[in-house]
Amino acid sequence: MSTWLVTGANRGIGLELARQLTARGAQVIGTAREPEAATELRATGARVEVLDVTRPDSVDALGARLRGEAIDVLVNNAGIGGLGGGVADLTADHLLRYYAVNAVGPLLVVRALLPALRAGGGKKIAHVTSLMGSIGDNGSGGAYGYRASKAALNMLNKSLALELGREGFTCLVLNPGWVQTDMGGRGAPTPVVESVRGLLAVIDGATPADSGRFFNHDGRALPW
Ligand SMILES: NC(=O)c1ccc[n+]([C@@H]2O[C@H](COP(=O)([O-])OP(=O)(O)OC[C@H]3O[C@@H](n4cnc5c(N)ncnc54)[C@H](OP(=O)(O)O)[C@@H]3O)[C@@H](O)[C@H]2O)c1
Repeated sequence: MSTWLVTGANRGIGLELARQLTARGAQVIGTAREPEAATELRATGARVEVLDVTRPDSVDALGARLRGEAIDVLVNNAGIGGLGGGVADLTADHLLRYYAVNAVGPLLVVRALLPALRAGGGKKIAHVTSLMGSIGDNGSGGAYGYRASKAALNMLNKSLALELGREGFTCLVLNPGWVQTDMGGRGAPTPVVESVRGLLAVIDGATPADSGRFFNHDGRALPW
């Protein structure tokens, strides 16, 4: 039985990942900022752990709790969205918040969980990024914090792929599509069940030859 750790698993894409994974018999450790309120996550059968990815003490404490355990697959899913205004409206705090949650946080999670990931047999790390982090696809601009933080996440994943690839890890960045969650809104075209089914198929099928690559939830390779 494989063990997966999913961040931001109390709602949205993370919760659906926990649902589909537990339904197929995987062991899931789902993280939430407020575990006592994560009733839907707990109902999946997942083990719930507290984690705020912007707080290094919280990330390190999770790593310490999991020392001696084995994790096969890490899905760094937690993130914040939103468009923000034009360049004249931007503040440093606004931009740095995006970096803290969407880029620095996931990297700190990898660092903290490395002993558990090294102990696992799966050796896969998947980051939920966004097509909005693609420079090649950016045809409408705006969303400075979100776009730049996801582009940074893509770059961090590439370096992880090169460094950890030597140990047999496969490190991916995955676009879930525009999904019906709190972040994506009700008007989004992709049901969360469909997005997550696709994400899991991509992760399941990925081999070390795919490490460092950027995939859509339907398996298509995406432009940087
Ligand atoms: N939905 C889309 O259309 C779409 C498109 C492209 C990419 N994505 C990406 O997909 C991922 C999941 O998105 P979603 O649609 O499921 O969003 P969501 O419904 O807004 O859920 C976001 C999750 O991230 C958690 N989170 C936020 N800040 C956190 C922090 N500091 N520490 C730990 N957890 C934190 C949230 O926890 P709380 O409940 O405590 O806030 C929640 O569990 C994100 O990385 C997002 O950028 C989504």
